[in-house]
Amino acid sequence: MAVGIFDSGLGGLTVLDAVAKRLPDVPFVYFGDNAHTPYGVRDADDVYDLTTRSVARLFDAGCDLVILACNTASAAALRRMQEGWVPPQKRVLGVFVPLIEALTERQWGDNSPPREVAVRHVALFATPATVASRAFQRELAFRAIGVDVEAQSCGGVVDAIEEGDEILAEALVRSHVDALKRKMPHPDAAVLGCTHYPLMETVFQDALGEDVRVFSQAKLVAESLADYLERRPEMKGSGKVSQFMTTGDPARVSSKATQFLRRKVEFSPA
Ligand code: DGL
Repeated sequence: MAVGIFDSGLGGLTVLDAVAKRLPDVPFVYFGDNAHTPYGVRDADDVYDLTTRSVARLFDAGCDLVILACNTASAAALRRMQEGWVPPQKRVLGVFVPLIEALTERQWGDNSPPREVAVRHVALFATPATVASRAFQRELAFRAIGVDVEAQSCGGVVDAIEEGDEILAEALVRSHVDALKRKMPHPDAAVLGCTHYPLMETVFQDALGEDVRVFSQAKLVAESLADYLERRPEMKGSGKVSQFMTTGDPARVSSKATQFLRRKVEFSPA
């Protein structure tokens, strides 16, 4: 059995780390499409083509269930994949819904009409493609009313993280938070809508101020996956071993991943 975790690069490791801790007996196969990162500046067709190619590789590796640990792919490609590409015995799930369920205080499967929730002013930080898709606002509108969302497209942050340039990443995060605050001076919640951003979570929190509640996806996705596998244990697939695959340079990606996860991680060529 194995569950696939996909991202355009290193960001999905934040999700991998949380799901591996929550489900220590489940083998996970991680796929980073590092040769083509970032996805956030690509158009929807391009993101769809790259994501389907990567997910097909995870199916070949024995995964029946794949988590798109990438908001850009979840926003720009997932619906199209689910409507016409995913084979009947396979499943591909995104990372948006668990986050929005937490934000709107809902349990899985609660399809009741949209209602008022505690948060009123939400700052969304995401890649240009995720912001352009408006997928977050769409999913939110199914569940909540009266929530004002201000989206900030955070150009450059993913590249800086992938390059390991923390100083640049921090400067960019601070300038994107400033830009957001000019549009929405007092958000009560902030959503880190890109799986790379938890690697900069302390900078986001510091720049936003401690009274802003920061929602980041890794733990929420881990809880939601644990719940899903309880209901659908057959989706654990036939794979037996955890592994890390990349379309990029395995030595370089392994060294960055080891630095991020603070444990030895060895990638092999996809
Ligand atoms: N980490 C991804 C996301 O959650 C992808 C970022 C990118 O490749 O631009 O959006």
